[in-house]
Amino acid sequence: MLHHPVVIGEAISRLSEVAWQDRDLSDGFRGTALGGFRGKRGPVNGRVGRRPCHHFNMEYRQLGHSGLKVSALSFGAGTFGGGSEFFRAWGQTGAREARKLIDICLDEGVNLFDTADVYSRGLSEEILGKAVAGKRGRVLISTKAAFPMGKGPNDVGSSRHHLTQCLEDSLRRLNTDYVDIYHMHGFDAVTPVEETLYTLDTFVKSGKVRYIACSNFSGWHLMKSLGISERYGWARYVGHQVYYSLIGRDYEWELMPLALDQKVGALAWSPLGWGRLTGKIRRGQPPPKVSRLHKTAANGPRPPEEYLYAVIDAIDEVAKETGKSVPQIALNWLLQRPTVAAVIMGARNEEQLKQNLGAHGWNLTAEQMAKLDAASKVARPYPYWHQAQFASRNPLPVADA
Ligand SMILES: NC(=O)c1ccc[n+]([C@@H]2O[C@H](COP(=O)([O-])OP(=O)(O)OC[C@H]3O[C@@H](n4cnc5c(N)ncnc54)[C@H](OP(=O)(O)O)[C@@H]3O)[C@@H](O)[C@H]2O)c1
Repeated sequence: MLHHPVVIGEAISRLSEVAWQDRDLSDGFRGTALGGFRGKRGPVNGRVGRRPCHHFNMEYRQLGHSGLKVSALSFGAGTFGGGSEFFRAWGQTGAREARKLIDICLDEGVNLFDTADVYSRGLSEEILGKAVAGKRGRVLISTKAAFPMGKGPNDVGSSRHHLTQCLEDSLRRLNTDYVDIYHMHGFDAVTPVEETLYTLDTFVKSGKVRYIACSNFSGWHLMKSLGISERYGWARYVGHQVYYSLIGRDYEWELMPLALDQKVGALAWSPLGWGRLTGKIRRGQPPPKVSRLHKTAANGPRPPEEYLYAVIDAIDEVAKETGKSVPQIALNWLLQRPTVAAVIMGARNEEQLKQNLGAHGWNLTAEQMAKLDAASKVARPYPYWHQAQFASRNPLPVADA
């Protein structure tokens, strides 16, 4: 990996340099700590690693430019509810099973649980709310808004009107009076960015929202938003929930350098490539009988088949070397990437969850990381191939990208 700041502006870059150096020399914004205890650092498999220092074998990382520590592995509740054909294919976890899954997570030190208002039309939030009843103080809840929640002209987007309604509805469904991390699920280019951020700032000031984050933003969406927050002194996005996996590395071109420069923590969604890096999909084998992909493949990222199989072959090799499973390798690779504050695991059931929780507490070696990097490498789009010719002044956060 290259260890230099990404230069965007002279003043910013000086600040970044400090942040960049911090990243490797101290906890930076990927620290290991819980309740003020710091982990001792030491080599793990030849890499600089972080040893846990408390009763959980979990690493806690700071979420971007905030004081919030999130568990490096977090849990996504997209499988809760099954409220439509699409979500039924994803999962149909009810309140009782959800409670069990959440207890397993809590026992492992997972503290962050992600949902969205649109997941099963609010049912995922409702089930999550029931499942964490009596444990609210131990969990961080992340939810999202902006996507359509009705057919009316104001039932969509990031307007003050819609967001105010969305937040009240989410709080009611989650049976809580605050959301820890409130995401804009997608960018709304129709609503003035000032209106959205002013509204979010009032949520933070009211105590109903603690931190704000965005999801699926382009570089300019995020940079414009951060600039406006700074201009008015409003709450700023501290996290970016992004699609990032061994078969989806687009995040690395623009958004990762931006995240480093501006200290925005990445929360990686669909870390198994929309349910593909599960060990159940292999070259020349029929697709598994039980898989959400039968109904959802067209709605998510669609990697070219040969590329997918080449990456799976490389994961299989590493799996043999390490004795770990395909999902564990894919998740561990992500845990070692710059800017990643949390990897949002998906799991249909207890067995999948327990296996995925085994993705932390160890590290792939530098050689194994390099093998996976090489297999998943894709051609750089413009302007990144051009910038590569001026690499001394445009270093990429990951050397192979
Ligand atoms: N911000 C956004 O726009 C956005 C978008 C999508 C998701 N998310 C968040 O990210 C979370 C995770 O997303 P995701 O579910 O797409 O993640 P993923 O990790 O790409 O896929 C998870 C799926 O893979 C399969 N699986 C997982 N672990 C397995 C194991 N150990 N063995 C075999 N199969 C396994 C299961 O599907 P099968 O059993 O069907 O094979 C499971 O539902 C969501 O719950 C949500 O919170 C956010």
